[in-house]
Amino acid sequence: MEETDIPLSHELSDWCRSGGAGDFPYDGVIDRLRAVGKHFLDEELLTLLAKCRTVFTEASSGGEGVPDTFVGPFLDVLLDKFDDLYDYPSYTALALLRRGAPDGRSGWEVLRRHRDRTVLMLLADLIGFERNALEGTPRNPQGMLPGALLLNKRLRLATRVMEPAALRVLDGAVDPVVVAATPGRTPAGELADAVLATATAGDRLMLRTSLQPVYVLHDEYLFLRVLQSFETTFAFMSATLDEAVRTLRGEQPGEAAALVAAVTDVLRESLPLFSLLATMQPESFQVFRQFTEGASAIQSEGYKTFESYCSTPARARLDSFAFLSVPDVRSDVLAGRETVQGTWENVISSGWLPEPDAAVLRAAALQLEGVHQRWKQTHYRLAVRMIGTRSGTGSTEGVPYLASVISQRLFPAMEQQPAAG
Ligand code: HEM
Repeated sequence: MEETDIPLSHELSDWCRSGGAGDFPYDGVIDRLRAVGKHFLDEELLTLLAKCRTVFTEASSGGEGVPDTFVGPFLDVLLDKFDDLYDYPSYTALALLRRGAPDGRSGWEVLRRHRDRTVLMLLADLIGFERNALEGTPRNPQGMLPGALLLNKRLRLATRVMEPAALRVLDGAVDPVVVAATPGRTPAGELADAVLATATAGDRLMLRTSLQPVYVLHDEYLFLRVLQSFETTFAFMSATLDEAVRTLRGEQPGEAAALVAAVTDVLRESLPLFSLLATMQPESFQVFRQFTEGASAIQSEGYKTFESYCSTPARARLDSFAFLSVPDVRSDVLAGRETVQGTWENVISSGWLPEPDAAVLRAAALQLEGVHQRWKQTHYRLAVRMIGTRSGTGSTEGVPYLASVISQRLFPAMEQQPAAG
């Protein structure tokens, strides 16, 4: 075990003594974390950080006006293993990622803008990290550094995911004609610079604090940023399907089809994130996943919320690891969450949704089903490549579990009632 860095301990102790009033020494703590990995932070430093958190929490609850709202969640994520609370949401630092997110009921265009901006930030940051490695000045974590060929491929694939979002929210950064002709050819460095030029102080702090690898291998940076990009996308999808349900109940139920289509589009645009992640070296993943045990995307509330807004999952699925791993989402479903499929069946049978509109909605749902099937198949193939016959980190047997969920449908009613039109 390495000894605690003396200047860092002093900086932290000073901050602690000030009751959290001054600037938190993020740089020192994050540099240390990325040099050794969260799993290997020394006990002495962790104990000091936990003490600082207590001081900070007391100062905040005493109304002493502590200005930095990142410190609390940052320390919770950093101390998750120490607290014995480590899981997928804390591994992916979702609490830090979501700071400043608009309210879930803000309207789908506001939510998509936030999703687009966040994914652009996450991937621009990844491009910056990979470019440092390509230029011969790698930053931590830098163990098992991939070669230039793989790193350049990473830049292209990251760009490919960014382009559609940049076309929507970043005027002039991307040429729509070039993107339509050959996706992924926008110069990665220029695009990343254009994105980061729009970053607020909050964005920069989010990027810095939300990357907390468990070990020292370079590829874990990619793994975390890809998971976070998907999670940001799932959050948008869930909130927009919630809006679709409300729209179906409202004056213009036919407008729900456009919302389902918007959800399909972002999921489709996100599929190359799997190709991007496929550039992770399996031998590298096998080393660092030893320290991610207990954190699995089977605990992704965003994914299960999205799924359970489409239709109510079958009882067997609700009682399997799939939903037992997300108890809050499961409770919402059991409490009778309304779904797109359930609501559309009601509004069609009551005559509230005219048949031509119902046909458009069914076609939109069918498209979402198709893209989700592609998502599951690509995820399955990636898992085969990365873990083969090894078990999952979320208590399942691994690849056989993923094979078993492919046959499930978001909109099972469509099986009996093929889309018209
Ligand atoms: C190295 C890449 C990956 C591997 C090897 C992998 C492997 C697995 C495995 C084995 C499971 C089953 C649960 C378990 O025991 O852990 C699982 C579930 C899941 N994974 Fe991945 N995964 C990978 C990447 C991703 C990514 C990038 C996402 C996007 C967030 C993701 C989302 C999910 C979701 C949502 C589930 C739950 C599926 C369900 O319950 O139906 N995975 N994954």
